[in-house]
Amino acid sequence: LTQLRGDQVICVSNREPLIHDRGADGGVLVKRPASGLVTAVEPVMQACSGTWIAHGSGSADRDMVDADDRVVVPGGQQDYWLRRIWLTEEEEKGYYYGFANEGLWPLCHVAHVRPVFRRSDWEAYKAVNQRFADAVVAEARSEDPIVLVQDYHLALVPAMVREKLPQATILTFWHIPWPNPESFGICPWRRELLRGMLGSTILGFHTRFHCRNFLETVDRYLEARIEHEHSIISVGRKETYVESYPISIAWPDETESAAWPAVAASREAVRARLGLPEDARIAVGVDRFDYTKGIIERINAVERLLEKHPEHLGRLAFVQVASPTRSELDEYHGFQDRVKALVARVNARFGREGWQPVHLLAEHHDHAQLIELYRAADACVVTSLHDGMNLVCKEFVAARDDERGVLVLSRFAGAARELHEALIVNPYDVEETADALHRAVTMSEPEQRERMASLRTNVAEFNVFRWAGRMLVDAGRWRLRARVEARLR
Ligand code: G6P
Repeated sequence: LTQLRGDQVICVSNREPLIHDRGADGGVLVKRPASGLVTAVEPVMQACSGTWIAHGSGSADRDMVDADDRVVVPGGQQDYWLRRIWLTEEEEKGYYYGFANEGLWPLCHVAHVRPVFRRSDWEAYKAVNQRFADAVVAEARSEDPIVLVQDYHLALVPAMVREKLPQATILTFWHIPWPNPESFGICPWRRELLRGMLGSTILGFHTRFHCRNFLETVDRYLEARIEHEHSIISVGRKETYVESYPISIAWPDETESAAWPAVAASREAVRARLGLPEDARIAVGVDRFDYTKGIIERINAVERLLEKHPEHLGRLAFVQVASPTRSELDEYHGFQDRVKALVARVNARFGREGWQPVHLLAEHHDHAQLIELYRAADACVVTSLHDGMNLVCKEFVAARDDERGVLVLSRFAGAARELHEALIVNPYDVEETADALHRAVTMSEPEQRERMASLRTNVAEFNVFRWAGRMLVDAGRWRLRARVEARLR
């Protein structure tokens, strides 16, 4: 890291770290978006005090935010710069809703939703990627900045930046899974996307499995030399190092956790708010309202649990937070309606006077509300059908300094490769998931403590600074190597 001291760090992502909304009194409210990317990247930007370029996506109305395109965001340790790019409605439709979220998102997640590829969306995606790349070049204060490119919205940015700043150190992190070559191959622009990504110095994925899929995909579709042993792809003289960097969260420090409400008070508050009985057990799910998250499978499992174990009737409440997301897309709209109908059916079947088994809270929740919910929970249920990492499970673990609470975790989330003390389930298996839920809410305190203590040690150590630190250390090595080679040439 010391090798990077004084170097300029520019991060570029689609999503910005702030949402601006109008409060009831007409005033502007600033909130944080529900995004694993923001959760992970913001502490890193605060630590290195860099420049973050993003779409001004969190503001429905441009008048609400600072008129300046470049603003300072006050941080925990240090402030950082936010430089906004404003996309037109049409650009956002084609690039973000269309190519990124109707094309690449279902292409990379195995959730059995068919990707949609339209030429017009691809054209918008290319044009918007160019706008982001131009902004990086405009922000660069030297010939060789360190550029952190985030995610599937910006696959073409690495090569576009490389063209203008050949000496930049470009680290690209893919926050979602990378599929196998057959699946990826259905994309009509597979080669262009791969070439764009290979503009990177380092290309990071959450797991080794995703790295292997990527190497095989390149092997299948491009003329490239692949050194599997060292995980290096060469196209001509250009090399890209492909490595797994499991993402994480900033582990809360003592000042932060000291401000949290006590566990008993959190339970009381949640019970009072939802009208739950004194002895209620609480299981929670916290997700963006997305079809990859396995929300239907989870509610089916709750229903099956109530069939198999009627002793939970009137006692177990399942609380699902579902933050609104991408609702303009038919696929999301339809999914969200299906979930609402399912919840209504299960509640009608098992609900009684004054009690319902499922509480669907389909609205934005801020960090403090989520902390309260995590601390109130007997179990946290993450049943993604496919997920790059999933940070909700790590946030739940971080919130439980009382070492209680049980994590039920999908084997198809990257996190399952690290969090072995969770109850790992296949969400497509209703029976298994229902049994895990039962086991979670009836687990003895000593077993809860043993599992949670071990999970906490793991997440505290492999926190987000480890994620960023490992990438930056690798970048430092590659940077040095490039400089030495340039001198010797
Ligand atoms: C996923 C993506 C992120 C994105 C987040 C929220 O985690 O990998 O890039 O920020 O979802 O989605 P949204 O479409 O609201 O940005």
